[in-house]
Amino acid sequence: AATTRYEAEAATITQGVAESNHAGYSGTGFVNYDNVAGSSVQWSVTAAAAGSATLTIRFSNGTTTNRPMDIAVNGTTVAAASAFNGTGNWDTWQSKTITAALNAGTNTIRATATTANGGPNVDWLEVAQATDGPAVPF
Ligand code: GCU
Repeated sequence: AATTRYEAEAATITQGVAESNHAGYSGTGFVNYDNVAGSSVQWSVTAAAAGSATLTIRFSNGTTTNRPMDIAVNGTTVAAASAFNGTGNWDTWQSKTITAALNAGTNTIRATATTANGGPNVDWLEVAQATDGPAVPF
């Protein structure tokens, strides 16, 4: 199975900013969502084949309040108000996993904050598919 990591700071950020002032991130930083409902990060991901995928979002939340986000695939919400609970501090990262169907080829995956607190800090999205694509005829 192939797993691909997509950094949040390289994605399309709407009402948020790439920052690096907390430790433990991968890549060059993470996304600090603006503290507003509707702030989002959208990734463009490539799937070798249509089918189920495991979507993992790495995040930190230095508060004690859940920062829920809607997770949408190709514009359709597949996980509404998914919980991103406190991780203890902004340097402590946890992973949240959901399962969703992807199309073969390019897909958009968007994580949108649903409360006025905005989203958690988000480090990356990983996409894992159970198959590596269609069997190659020979
Ligand atoms: C702090 C923290 C940020 C975080 C923000 C928030 O300012 O340093 O990294 O994004 O809180 O509450 O969203």
